[in-house]
Amino acid sequence: MAEDTSTPASPDPGPLPGGPPADPTKVWNFQSAAITENQPDWGGDLGFDTTVAHNARVWNYWLGGRDNFPADREVGEQVRQMFPGIVDVARADRAFLGRAVRYLAGEAGIRQFLDIGTGLPTADNTHEVAQRIAPDSRIVYVDNDPLVLVHARALLVGTPEGATDYIDVDVHDPGSILRAAAETLDFAKPTAIMFLGSLNFILDTDTAVAVVDHLIDHVPSGSYLVVAHPTHELGGEANAASMRHWNEHATPPITPRSRDEVARFFHGLELLEPGIVSCSRWRPDPAPAGGLPPEVPQFGAVARKL
Ligand SMILES: C[S@@+](CC[C@H](N)C(=O)[O-])C[C@H]1O[C@@H](n2cnc3c(N)ncnc32)[C@H](O)[C@@H]1O
Repeated sequence: MAEDTSTPASPDPGPLPGGPPADPTKVWNFQSAAITENQPDWGGDLGFDTTVAHNARVWNYWLGGRDNFPADREVGEQVRQMFPGIVDVARADRAFLGRAVRYLAGEAGIRQFLDIGTGLPTADNTHEVAQRIAPDSRIVYVDNDPLVLVHARALLVGTPEGATDYIDVDVHDPGSILRAAAETLDFAKPTAIMFLGSLNFILDTDTAVAVVDHLIDHVPSGSYLVVAHPTHELGGEANAASMRHWNEHATPPITPRSRDEVARFFHGLELLEPGIVSCSRWRPDPAPAGGLPPEVPQFGAVARKL
């Protein structure tokens, strides 16, 4: 098959199951950072190396989006060939995000969300789910990928009653996350701290636990921690091999974690039912045929600060 060398066409908001269809008449214009009717202008220096596959864009590829380059599609496809379940992982992770935020904004009454490792905009982003339930919800997205940030600025626009902000900070730097997010969030009020598919970029587990602890220490009781994290425990050898392939051919490197390692992020917190499970099985919506959805090798869990 001839390689498609075209540049990304549009910050595609779908297609996810149940998500809005992409509008093929609209394209992304990078320079003006807006969706336009015209052809995208990718003439300038994009500020990142498009020839190296990057997690945010490959994740977008697995979700059926179009914000990716040939290098992203190539590695994304290689991983998918090795471990076809990766597409189910990405979809299950997004669906878990939707259910967790629905619970937090609804039943738990949370109005502040710190979403670390935003990803490229897709269907049902955190602010959309939260503000559908509570329009005054305030959301800060954190990412360090330039493409994510420019897309987020243009596309993740929230309600007038609430607030939506985007900050360019590394997940390894919780102090800077707190300082920058404090312009939008009031850390005296309960806050949901969300790491969906992002703690796996902190390769050392003690460091990752320290990052989580630092953030949790700065929010009051009644705050929540939401984590989705890849694991080898549920995916078998094909999953493990595809992760090794990722680390040899794409950026940034990732690490899977065991259930016991993921449990360390929640120490001192009250883990909500059903605990640390495949994210597809965290309070799943009732299936038409009944029964539990299949597991995916991505843990999901939500906990409350006492
Ligand atoms: C797998 S995507 C997950 C996106 C979204 N949270 C979701 O669950 O669909 C991981 C995101 O983390 C971001 N990321 C990777 N390394 C990071 C770092 N060191 N600091 C901040 N964000 C990072 C990537 O750019 C990407 O947008």
